[in-house]
Amino acid sequence: MRRIICSLCAAAVLLTVMNGFGAAQAQDRKAEQAIKHRRAAFTLMSTYFSRLLQTVDGDRPFDAKQVAADAKTVEMLSRLPWEGFAPGTERGETRAKDDIWLEEDRFKQLAQDLQRQTIELSRVAAGGDLVQLKKAFTQTRDVCNACHKSFRTQP
Ligand code: HEC
Repeated sequence: MRRIICSLCAAAVLLTVMNGFGAAQAQDRKAEQAIKHRRAAFTLMSTYFSRLLQTVDGDRPFDAKQVAADAKTVEMLSRLPWEGFAPGTERGETRAKDDIWLEEDRFKQLAQDLQRQTIELSRVAAGGDLVQLKKAFTQTRDVCNACHKSFRTQP
């Protein structure tokens, strides 16, 4: 009888441990997904932003309609990375600096600045004026750079 009870205890302990392990693994997977999410969002945003860069640098013919569409896409994509900076995503396949969580207010402020700036970029792009576009593009890029300088590790 004692043997049976003990086997049951052992099974219960084992199950508890395994459940804990499973929960930890699920947590890790969630963090991994969140990091993938934010990196994918940055990559996509950068793809459309680079097209605008080529246009303002004169490496791509100025197509006002395309520019307006690309700027609108950048605006939309600039809202996406942030939910990927959830707690628990400090470690992993990431270049995020710890300062993101230590100076959270400043990081959030820059994320907001970017969203505000891309709304302006998109508004200006719809106007079809290349000189104005250059100005709005540079202002947006300054926000990208400011954040990377403080909050992204060097490759
Ligand atoms: C508020 C901060 C912030 C702003 C603003 C910002 N980034 Fe980033 N960016 C980051 C951080 C942090 C990472 C690293 C993410 C990681 O590795 O988990 C990153 C990563 C990237 C990556 C690499 C993606 C990858 O993993 O392959 C690209 C490309 C990028 N950003 C482009 C841009 C562009 C373009 C802009 C502006 C239009 C911009 N970012 C604005 C913080 C920012």
